[in-house]
Amino acid sequence: MTERIEQLRAEAQSAILAAAGGEALEELRVRYLGRKAELPQILRGVRELAPAERGAVGKAANEARQELEALIAQRAAQLAEDQLVRSLRDERLDVTLPGAPPQPVGRLHVLTATWRELEDIFVGLGFTVLEGPEVETVHYNFDALNHSPTHPARARTDTFYVAEDVVLRTHTSPMQIRAMEAHPPPLYVVIPGRVYRPDSDATHTPQFHQVEGLAVDTDITLADLKGTLLAFARAVFGEDRDVRLRPHFFPFTEPSVEVDVSCFHCSGNGFLADGARCYLCKGEGWLEVLGAGEVDPNVYAHIPTSERNEPGYDPERVQGFAWGMGIERIAMLKHGIPDLRLYYENDLRFLEQFG
Ligand code: PHE
Repeated sequence: MTERIEQLRAEAQSAILAAAGGEALEELRVRYLGRKAELPQILRGVRELAPAERGAVGKAANEARQELEALIAQRAAQLAEDQLVRSLRDERLDVTLPGAPPQPVGRLHVLTATWRELEDIFVGLGFTVLEGPEVETVHYNFDALNHSPTHPARARTDTFYVAEDVVLRTHTSPMQIRAMEAHPPPLYVVIPGRVYRPDSDATHTPQFHQVEGLAVDTDITLADLKGTLLAFARAVFGEDRDVRLRPHFFPFTEPSVEVDVSCFHCSGNGFLADGARCYLCKGEGWLEVLGAGEVDPNVYAHIPTSERNEPGYDPERVQGFAWGMGIERIAMLKHGIPDLRLYYENDLRFLEQFG
């Protein structure tokens, strides 16, 4: 009997080790260890054997069963692992394919860069930056800035009207009024932003940018304006620049001036080393950069005194200066850009040269 057990054990062992898959293994389990299989039957028959045989047969059969069960479990684990290794190999996904090449790092638009440069300069001089609405009332855009009711800038041909009393602001100057309404003197603010006029040619676009400046205190003179703008001109165009003021007219400043910076291309000579006329200043030696002036007392009269700006703007007690400069124009002069429309065409060959 023990020989038969040994025979069954050896036969089952080699069959299990050779089983090629989970199903084959299950068949072998049924064949050798199932209810009707020979080995379990031998086990069940042990108690009917002669007492002398029982011990040896029972032990051999039990050991054989335990060994085969363990072997089946081992083979099953082995088959599962083989299966895993195979699918890892067959279903391998190559994630190392090269991706899209990285895009080159961008840069600031030349107008944004100039906007920020101007802000930095005036913040360095002690001014605070404010911004304001681009859709503005006629009151702030014209009336409170002392424009006469018949001033030509109010015409439908010169200003975009949104409604009877509402315009796209034609300059950043309305923020002079809003700033004074909101803050008491002394006031030192710069206001960058978009402005709109129905013009379109090489030196005008319907939308452009300005930086307004306003300083109001008790003893502000035109000399302070000149000193401030000299510092600006040197910061933007170079240490050797000079500024000059020419009389002009704006409804909201008195006196009003146009401000020129000495030409940085020909050092203010009007001609170049080879004797040619300077193309940038057209032989003038000066470049017009902005409009400015002392705040007209009539403007203060339009600022109501309120809790927010207590004690208010009394023309007998405060004086100030204001200016407005075009960001496009400053960048155009600084970089020798011939046509203002280039800023807005988004041609990378142009934009990549700056910023
Ligand atoms: N707002 C004027 C313009 O757009 C410029 C300016 C601003 C002039 C402030 C004087 C004072 O032309």
